[in-house]
Amino acid sequence: MEFNTHIQVSAAKVKTSALAVGVFADGILSPSADVIDRASNGAIRAVIKTEFSARAASTLVLRNLPGVAAQRVVLVGLGKQSEYSLRTYARAELAFAAACVQARVGEATSALASIACAGTELRERARAGGAAVCEATYHYDSTLGKPDPHARPKLRKFAMLVERADAAKAQHGLREGEALGEGMSLARTLGNLPGNICTPTYLGETAKSLARSFKSIKVSVLDRKQIEALKMGSFLSVAKGSDEMPRFIVMHYKGPQPARRAVKAAALTAEGPVVLVGKGITFDSGGVSIKPAATMDEMKYDMCGAASVIGTLRAAAQLELPGEVIGLIPTCENMLSGRANKPGDVVTSMSGQTIEILNTDAEGRLILCDALTYAERFKPSVVVDIATLTGACVVALGSVNSGLFSTDDALAGALLAAGRQALDPAWRMPMDEAYQDQLKSNFADMANIGGPQAGSVTAACFLSRFTKAYRWAHLDIAGTAWRGGKDKGSTGRPVPLLLQFLLNRKPG
Ligand code: BES
Ligand code: MN
Ligand code: ZN
Repeated sequence: MEFNTHIQVSAAKVKTSALAVGVFADGILSPSADVIDRASNGAIRAVIKTEFSARAASTLVLRNLPGVAAQRVVLVGLGKQSEYSLRTYARAELAFAAACVQARVGEATSALASIACAGTELRERARAGGAAVCEATYHYDSTLGKPDPHARPKLRKFAMLVERADAAKAQHGLREGEALGEGMSLARTLGNLPGNICTPTYLGETAKSLARSFKSIKVSVLDRKQIEALKMGSFLSVAKGSDEMPRFIVMHYKGPQPARRAVKAAALTAEGPVVLVGKGITFDSGGVSIKPAATMDEMKYDMCGAASVIGTLRAAAQLELPGEVIGLIPTCENMLSGRANKPGDVVTSMSGQTIEILNTDAEGRLILCDALTYAERFKPSVVVDIATLTGACVVALGSVNSGLFSTDDALAGALLAAGRQALDPAWRMPMDEAYQDQLKSNFADMANIGGPQAGSVTAACFLSRFTKAYRWAHLDIAGTAWRGGKDKGSTGRPVPLLLQFLLNRKPG
């Protein structure tokens, strides 16, 4: 996508295939809609009386209006003006871009971002709008026998109509939106690719190809022997049940160094990198504690945490964010075989703590715990792990909020704020010490499950036992990383939250 800004002359004079103007419910026109209405002798006021109620994210295409240079004017509903928010704006921009994709136009202009929206700045709107356009033009056809070139969105150029004084802010936001959108698209495609293609090896190759595209990213991919040398006995116990080779991916992003004084000023910007740890189970059959067949195909998405780490590092590199970000990805399959984990097996993690595997389907925590121990060597300022960890989290929070777990209030607050700001919300869940009792084992230092109650909390409690050396938070994205059913596909979440978190740390 090529993003640009148009300096506002008169909306009626903008030469474009499709021009979006906003309309609030109750017949209130945005400034650009008013300009178009006057230029076209009341064409907009005429239709809002009859056929356009301006429901949020609804659209109506008007072609060849007299006195208007744009080929099409797309009326975009913004809902009630009193309820207008960043979220409504982003939904409106997405609806416009989707209408452009449907109309197969190659280029479009939107006047939506310049509409005032309480509590948001233009740069923020441009960021969210740019990402929404990328989302609307996302198309997956990697595994179709004959990809239909006509099904691919034609929209290549997207401009925002803004005042001259606002052009720099809009351009800045669009650049961020583009990086975010491309990071999300990468994460989505990795998620959508089937488990027989998107293997641990494939994830490693994808990380390496990022390192070729961005000088600021260095990648090393460890193989089974190297993982054995690190004594990651818990991770390896999951990997050994599969014929697919495991990988431990280490990505290192280093941006331009921020000025010293600025570093001191910014909260949460202590020395040390941010470490992001992503669960990379490229297929989760459950292992010997096998899952039911009905929706098992969706367990190809069990590497969406890893995909979000890769997508976030890509976005950070594209934006040349200051500071350092490390991405750690333990990746393997969870399968059944003569070499697979069995209920009752005891394994020794890299930390030296032993784990009784009471359920082989609780494998995410078994691979993450060793990556969390590995993270210590970077002396991180904070560590955030991202994982499609528990079905219980889907029960608790559905597909709206990701689950956030942390014993560090400041870190939790920063992540929650980033999620709200990026329209990628998370909800904090409890982590009282008392839940730790559920992980007691008679035969090892801990069990890998905590029984039927509070399943997503006990999963987080398990991880917390490997994070004593640094500030840590855990995002359970089991409900937010992909959609099931008719619209099955990955969402790219929580790349927006993670990138926003990194942007907010940026001093100055
Ligand atoms: N990858 C799953 C979690 C999951 C399940 C995500 C369904 C989205 C939808 C994870 O590895 C898992 O199987 N967790 C178990 C844990 C249980 C055995 C304690 C679960 O949630 O059932
Ligand atoms: Mn599982
Ligand atoms: Zn899993």
